[in-house]
Amino acid sequence: MHKKLFLPGPIEVREDVLKQQCRPLIGHRSTEFSEMYHRVVETLKELFNTSYHAFVFTSSATGVMEGFIRNFVKRRVLVMQNGSFAKRWVEACKLNGKEVFSYDIEWGKAVKPDMVREELRKKHYDAIIVVHNESSTGVLSPLKDIAEAVKDTSQDTLILVDAVTSMMGVPLEFESWGIDAVTASVQKAFGLPPGIAVAFVSHRAMEVSKGIEDKGLYFNFEEMVKYYEKRHQTPFTPNISLIYALDYQLQRIKKEGIENRYRRHEEMARLAQEWAIEYFSMFPEEGYWSKTITCVKNTRNIPVGKFLEELSKVGFVIANGYGPLKDKTFRIGHMGDITAEELKELLEVMTDILKKMGYIG
Ligand SMILES: Cc1ncc(COP(=O)(O)O)c(C=O)c1O
Repeated sequence: MHKKLFLPGPIEVREDVLKQQCRPLIGHRSTEFSEMYHRVVETLKELFNTSYHAFVFTSSATGVMEGFIRNFVKRRVLVMQNGSFAKRWVEACKLNGKEVFSYDIEWGKAVKPDMVREELRKKHYDAIIVVHNESSTGVLSPLKDIAEAVKDTSQDTLILVDAVTSMMGVPLEFESWGIDAVTASVQKAFGLPPGIAVAFVSHRAMEVSKGIEDKGLYFNFEEMVKYYEKRHQTPFTPNISLIYALDYQLQRIKKEGIENRYRRHEEMARLAQEWAIEYFSMFPEEGYWSKTITCVKNTRNIPVGKFLEELSKVGFVIANGYGPLKDKTFRIGHMGDITAEELKELLEVMTDILKKMGYIG
């Protein structure tokens, strides 16, 4: 039985999208590849209405995160830590030899512009890192206002953003907001299998990168730009099969219309939030609820593992809470190509199971 994935990623992928990966291979130095990669990069730029550099890396977003740290952080970096994924950025900065300060925020709360102002007034940082949609807590932070606060307080601080579970699901006007670098994995709101990640980088950040040493070999953005500008290729062998799927999926997204895609995600978030409020409560603070992942607070003290097992038996997969939030919360991923109708079906099944388990009347 196929089990439908309502995870915070990987997410359900449409069969026609999956099938693109079965097409015969082409060489990554061929004209056919160059044409496809050019189309992919230009379509990404078109969808986000941006003049920034666009990149596709063969790795998940964590690789690109390290790339951001190596290429765009001179020395001192501030990470706004409001969840497990933000914490991972702190670790990655340390492991890559940067001087990192973690601004600790209670998990479940959003990053607020005033927090950023407060810290940037105290000390100068070469870069700040913010997770747009913290998948462990289901919090969507107000990125536009955060970026505004950074620019007001410290103009030369680069703004690096993890939009892993927001890009393609919620509006992200990174160029007009003044974000310098942003990355996302494709197994989330892009609706693709895992294995590649997308990034956009400002011209200002590319200039900064020129003065930074020890950028490493694989995630070297200057090299990526050189190869793209020369022949619309990548320095190393990319996952061609997944790029077929990305190429196809970007055209599907264009057809749907990105604004319609955002509206669909809004509607799904509303449905999941209403369900959470009816039977439990929302974990994150009000006003900052994610549009792609609903993090439900386990107010009825249900055995989350058992509940997930029962759901899986009838063909649906959702996620337990992440890290320290395991069993205290559970999470429903509603992004990518999932429809409101499919989500409604999941929510009905969840209600039925909880009734059978005797947790709701
Ligand atoms: C907010 C956030 N950042 C980073 C990551 C890491 O992404 P990946 O596993 O694709 O490297 C994830 C994965 O779920 C995430 O949700």
